[in-house]
Amino acid sequence: MNMRASHLAFEPVDALAALCKASGDPLRLNILRALSNDSFGVLELAQIFAIGQSGISHHLKVLAQAGLVATRREGNAIFYRRALAHNEQPGSHLHAALLDEVDSLQLPSQVQERIAAVHGQRAAASQDFFARTAASFQAQQDLIAGLPQYRDSLLALLDALGFAGTATALEIGPGDGAFLPELARRFSQVTALDNSPAMLELARTRCEREGLGNVELQLADALNDDYPAADCVVLNMVLHHFAAPAEALKRLARQVKSGGSLLITELCSHNQSWARQACGDLWLGFEQDDLARWAVAAGLTPGESLYVGLRNGFQIQLRHFAKPHANSGLRATVTGKQ
Ligand SMILES: C[S@@+](CC[C@H](N)C(=O)[O-])C[C@H]1O[C@@H](n2cnc3c(N)ncnc32)[C@H](O)[C@@H]1O
Repeated sequence: MNMRASHLAFEPVDALAALCKASGDPLRLNILRALSNDSFGVLELAQIFAIGQSGISHHLKVLAQAGLVATRREGNAIFYRRALAHNEQPGSHLHAALLDEVDSLQLPSQVQERIAAVHGQRAAASQDFFARTAASFQAQQDLIAGLPQYRDSLLALLDALGFAGTATALEIGPGDGAFLPELARRFSQVTALDNSPAMLELARTRCEREGLGNVELQLADALNDDYPAADCVVLNMVLHHFAAPAEALKRLARQVKSGGSLLITELCSHNQSWARQACGDLWLGFEQDDLARWAVAAGLTPGESLYVGLRNGFQIQLRHFAKPHANSGLRATVTGKQ
């Protein structure tokens, strides 16, 4: 018998067996559940599941070898996320069904509490950064990408949407408010919401200086506090400061009025880990497909996108996501690679 041929013949079975073995463990199923729309580092997962680092590393290795989780390097840190089933691979139907089943499970309440604690630690690090660096805000922004570098593209995207003069806008995380004059010119009423008193003060100074009478500033956390919905919700360079960006998109989508738009300006995925310390970034940009997948999961439909390359090597993505009209019966779909 041709040994090579027989070995090849068993490969699909091996892959299927690895998938079954990897998923035949309650802790590993809970890890997959926790990664359903988030990604965590090894230390975060060790904290969430209250086990040692070597224990969690072992389970992650088994899941990775079975193709159930994938890694993404963020500077020096490695983040784990769920791998999606690929149709052409053995076990892909089982893989997809397994993730569906896992998503119907409730994580134990203690695990949920510890995930919230990890998100809290991430959010506190971000807030602390903006409290410390408001005075040097512009210099920090310019280290990577300031508004002048993407303003024209963003306005082109915004103006192409053709909002009526009566429409309202909401800017999350306006920073020093540099984009507010543009929004104030185009919308009847603008709300600008920031959770940093120091940053909001910078925005207030600008609104007063420019006499922006239709802009209301609100000190609030975009993820935890109440604030009004709007026809157009704008986030410029903010998402990478959120502890749980996929969950954040669901929250933000609820603030977009039916038939309205969410506009996101973000960095594309990069590996410049110094941005964490220098700019307080929690995430080193995002994969374009991840943003689209999270938006679809939040009930939005991906629209036009523009990409702006910068001389410093970073790339900016400008994304439009539409909220279907309440009665349109539209269901958003996206073909996502992981
Ligand atoms: C990098 S700055 C971007 C500022 C501005 N949009 C720009 O592009 O220049 C991020 C802003 O988001 C705010 N921010 C971060 N997390 C927030 C949250 N959870 N709720 C509200 N604002 C938040 C920060 O205080 C800061 O003003």
